Parts: sequence; C-alpha cells; structure tokens
Amino acid sequence: MSHYSAIEISNLDYKYPDGTQALHGVSLKVAENETVGLLGHNGAGKSTLILHLNGIIIGGDVRVFGTPVTKKSIRQVRQRVGLIFQNPDDQLFCPTVFDDIAFGARQLGLSEKEVIERVRHSVSEVGLDESILKKNVFHLSFGQKKLVSIATVTAMDARVLVFDEPTAGLDPRARKKIINLLRSLGRTQIIASHDLDMLSQLCDRVVLLSGGAVAAEGKTSDILNDIPLLEKSGVL
Ligand SMILES: Nc1ncnc2c1ncn2[C@@H]1O[C@H](COP(=O)(O)OP(=O)(O)OP(=O)(O)O)[C@@H](O)[C@H]1O
Ligand SMILES: [Mg+2]
Repeated sequence: MSHYSAIEISNLDYKYPDGTQALHGVSLKVAENETVGLLGHNGAGKSTLILHLNGIIIGGDVRVFGTPVTKKSIRQVRQRVGLIFQNPDDQLFCPTVFDDIAFGARQLGLSEKEVIERVRHSVSEVGLDESILKKNVFHLSFGQKKLVSIATVTAMDARVLVFDEPTAGLDPRARKKIINLLRSLGRTQIIASHDLDMLSQLCDRVVLLSGGAVAAEGKTSDILNDIPLLEKSGVL
C-alpha cells in the first residue's frame, strides 16, 4: 500500500476545442481498493472525467498514486489505470480476440509464454471459454465484446480499473454476470453509470456530477436514497 491516494484530482477544468466547458472545479480522491461510483445525467461530464484518468485527455492536476498524469508519465499511468470504454468497438482493434487481449500484456514487455498465460487467465476470469480466443472480434456479440474489453485491461494487471457504463446495452443475465465479475475483480474501481441498482450493489461511495461539477458525494446509500438531490441534479 502506498501512502498516496490511488487517484487524486484537484480543481479540474476542461473545455473541449469547440468551447464546451465539460468540467469545472472537479476535485476527487479515490483511496486504494475503494470502489467509487460516478453518477450524473447525460452530458454531466462523467466520460470526460474518466478520459483524464489514463491520459487520453491531459491537463489539470490529476495524480495516479501520486504521479501527475503528463505526456512523460503516460506509459506508467496506463500500466496502473485500465480504462474500459462504454463502447467496446473503441477498445478492440485487433483481428482476433487473442491479439486484442495480448496487446496490452505485450506492451509490458513480458515473454510470449507469459503473455499467453496472462491471456488464458484473463479470458477465464471474465467467464469466457478459451475457444473464443481465435474468433474474429467483429463476429462477437455485444456482451461478449464487453467481456473481452475487460479482459484486455485485466491482462495488464492494472491496479485501478475504470469502467464507463459497464452494464449499458446488456441483457439482464449478462448484466448480472458483469456485476458479479466487477465484484470479484476487486482492486480500485471507478464506475460511471446510470444503473443505480448496480451502483448500490458495488460502490462504497458515490460522486454525483451535474453540469460538469461535483454536486454531491457520500456513502452510496445516502446519495442514492436522496431523491430530491437526484431530481435537482438531473438524474431522476
Ligand atoms: N469531443 C467532444 N467535443 C465537444 N464536446 C464534447 C465532446 N465530448 C463530449 N462533449 C460535451 O461535453 C459534455 C460532457 O460530456 P460527457 O460525454 O463527458 O458526459 P457524460 O456524463 O459521459 O454523458 P453520458 O451519460 O451521456 O455518457 C457534454 O456537454 C458533451 O456534449
Ligand atoms: Mg459518458
């Protein structure tokens, strides 16, 4: 355990090139091994915030285990923070499932034997059969792509897992599987979602974003049971 927070963001502003002010004055601390939900209306800034956590957007005071996220630190940051996009097509780009899961592990400079071991372990960890490894990514169902996306990140053994809408677009069975998977993965997790029931099952704490700013944060049950707050913040 380090004495640094896993994630520490101070007073973060972000404006997109077209002038949209997506974040203003966002501060957030996530302790190691904590699971934090990020809740907010469509356009509240959840995805924009998440893109700062592994340097897809660089700017402002964002620290990962004490290290500021900069161009220079980006490699190290990405080994520590794995981001699972809402849309698996943004995550997967190799011809086969094997190559996609192996890609990140290869970046770590592991031997091919170790890479193969990591791929096998990750694919079974997300509950998929090894036979999926030789399949073409284009031929997978949405739910399978979602699980493969998670495996690409767990194969890198990142200490922080960041999920953008992990249950969106899944049928009830697949959704339940993903919830159980996230629970079993442990580590430090940040989960952006509108799925209040999932957040209540998984999160120690919830941060509520509204209009690019933190509207409230607190114990999951306190935030989720505060109907007037959720209505005022545009979630309900
Ligand atoms: N590439 C972009 N260029 C310009 N504006 C953008 C871009 N991406 C997002 N925005 C704007 O930034 C604001 C925050 O968007 P963001 O995607 O972070 O919200 P969100 O909370 O993830 O919403 P959702 O729940 O719909 O996924 C919105 O006003 C959005 O229109
Ligand atoms: Mg989003």
